[in-house]
Amino acid sequence: MNILERLESIREEAKERISMQKTIHDLHQEKAKYLGKKGVMADFMKMMKDASVEEKKVLGKSSNEVKQAIAQFIEEQKKQIEELAIQQKLESETIDVTLPGQQVETGTKHILNQVVEEIEDLFIGMGYTVEEGPEVENDEYNFEKLNLPKDHPARDMQDTFYITEESLLRTHTSPVQVRTMLAADGKPIKIICPGKVYRRDDDDATHSHQFMQIEGLVIDEITTLADLKGTLLEVARKMFGEDRQIRLRPSYFPFTEPSVEVDVTCSNCDGVGCSMCKGTGWIEILGAGMVHPNVLEACGYDSEKYQGYAFGMGVERIAMLRHGIDDIRHFYTNDIRFLKQFK
Ligand code: FA5
Repeated sequence: MNILERLESIREEAKERISMQKTIHDLHQEKAKYLGKKGVMADFMKMMKDASVEEKKVLGKSSNEVKQAIAQFIEEQKKQIEELAIQQKLESETIDVTLPGQQVETGTKHILNQVVEEIEDLFIGMGYTVEEGPEVENDEYNFEKLNLPKDHPARDMQDTFYITEESLLRTHTSPVQVRTMLAADGKPIKIICPGKVYRRDDDDATHSHQFMQIEGLVIDEITTLADLKGTLLEVARKMFGEDRQIRLRPSYFPFTEPSVEVDVTCSNCDGVGCSMCKGTGWIEILGAGMVHPNVLEACGYDSEKYQGYAFGMGVERIAMLRHGIDDIRHFYTNDIRFLKQFK
């Protein structure tokens, strides 16, 4: 093989090898192999140093042509590799709009929160504001300021989980009322307080050691039991239907005087009597009363000038009555089949 044939075979070999490269990285390596400082063409040029001037002229021209040809092959292959990459990207990213969509699972607001929000909306519409407070309370706000001193027998009905002797998990949302009264500096109040509460009760179909309450408190210079009754009738009708009636039965709470239990006519039998209302036609929904003067005084109000009414209801009980739920534990076991029913 003479020297020109050798040059031609380098060109052919380079063309073939370059056309086989699939990545830019491999292509760079081929470029270095043929056109680099220690590459095939550089070696070839070194061989030319012994040639005659005439030969050098011919070989110089030819080797330059081969170098340009190789550079050209590399450029063309580079373009091909890049085009192929774009093509593959387009194909892999193509969206088939005829494919069925992927279902996105959305959750549901918990039924208890739905009931709370509905009751909140009702009261906000009547001019109340919503107040919240801590679940870990002190004995003073949960009991003492509510006319329940340390040795009071009514504390037995609200035993709870104690963190220290003075600090406990609140047994009702009434301490939020205390906090609001103390902060109001003797001014009128119209609030509801929703939230979680805790008691040392054994769990059964209607009792849970943790449950929710919404309590309300109105304090002003003129408030009467008639205002309380009218407000509670609104609540009963909103929650259980426009035809509901309510009745107030005398009861006892240390923080109200007089105190009442409030019943609503059974929505299942319209007050005739059925298994849901145990044949009475009435269902108890909450406790209420006029704020005890001792509570007003303990929380910074002149009980000669101010009166108030308060009420408290169990949110689970309302939700159970409305939706025919037979066991309070359903609210807390997080069975998705139960929760989904209230979408
Ligand atoms: C109270 O907690 C009073 N603070 C309510 C009140 C406020 C009365 C203002 C007067 C004035 P009681 O202990 O009855 O009252 O609880 C209120 C409601 O909480 C009950 O009617 C019931 O629906 C609910 N409840 C009580 N204990 C439990 C329990 N262990 N599990 C589920 N719900 C409960």
